[in-house]
Amino acid sequence: MVQASSLLDRISLNGYDSTSRLSRSGKIPEVPMARKKRNKPQFDVEKSLQNRRFEKMIFHHGSLAAVIKSIGFYTLSTLIWPRFIAPKRWKLTRFNVVMPNLPRVFDGYKIAQLSDLHTGSTDQHYLRRVLETVVAEKPDIIVITGDLIEYRAGSLQKLEALLPLLHATDGVLAIFGNHDYHEYSWRHVGPRSAHRAIHKRLRTLLAKHQITLLRNTRHRVLRENSALYFVGMDELWTGNADGPAAFAGIPASAPCICLQHNPDGFEILRQFPWQLMLCGHTHGGQVRLPLIGSLFVPMKHRQYIRGWYTLHSDANPKEKRMYVSTGLGQSVPIRLRVPPEATIFTLHSNIQ
Ligand SMILES: [Fe+2]
Repeated sequence: MVQASSLLDRISLNGYDSTSRLSRSGKIPEVPMARKKRNKPQFDVEKSLQNRRFEKMIFHHGSLAAVIKSIGFYTLSTLIWPRFIAPKRWKLTRFNVVMPNLPRVFDGYKIAQLSDLHTGSTDQHYLRRVLETVVAEKPDIIVITGDLIEYRAGSLQKLEALLPLLHATDGVLAIFGNHDYHEYSWRHVGPRSAHRAIHKRLRTLLAKHQITLLRNTRHRVLRENSALYFVGMDELWTGNADGPAAFAGIPASAPCICLQHNPDGFEILRQFPWQLMLCGHTHGGQVRLPLIGSLFVPMKHRQYIRGWYTLHSDANPKEKRMYVSTGLGQSVPIRLRVPPEATIFTLHSNIQ
């Protein structure tokens, strides 16, 4: 029994519990030699072959590389790219625009459009680079088509740091977007938002930096007794946009460019004497999913999401055109397949 107990201890120590077998048979079970060394990994031919086949598959056939690439692509496309790269991959878009009623003295007149800066939520260094690049294009005039700020603490200070960068021969014009009145709302922001403290400080800030704020008002640029008009509409959602007030006194035959944050104004303002409308607001859809498109476009006429549109009429089929900028920033810094943009429009009186 002493020998049996000693052997049992050894067996148990080697990880083999034979207590139940001993109690049933009363004999010490025969222990296979191999089990005496269970702590050492045993060479399993079948398993080894399986491992080698797997290694061969992933290394020799490039499957591992494919798996790594897939994981990398998925991570980049769903997490890193839209959040950290795409919102800063902006482009400078250039267009030649023919306005038949444009005086020849304005031939080659360059308008730089900046839209939807959303300072406060958009990367400040990125915005600085954009503004410096645009100013280096030496535009005749710069227009900012709304959403200068994100309605939060610190936004005005960030905007103030950028405004001194803006220079153009005929100055800088700006209109308000919905975010310049109040934080975003599914409903309209309401006329009372104009009295909030940040909004008042924003107006003061623009005046301090000699930026002309247009709210249902117009700005006239003169060259040799010829005039080019810019009309800036107040934000549509406030309920304060006033076409008759904005276009009062503008001759029907005069070249006129309308600045309107929300492209919904395209059809609302169709009876007024403008030929080109510059808008923002949509961010071009901001996130454009394959096969699905943009999920969130906060406007009534969702077809006016980005790019060029024309209002046709029997009298003059190409009388009014609108350009919707994809903007430079956004409230939530995520973009996919809709690059931010700044735009340079060069005006021509005739097709060159
Ligand atoms: Fe915006």
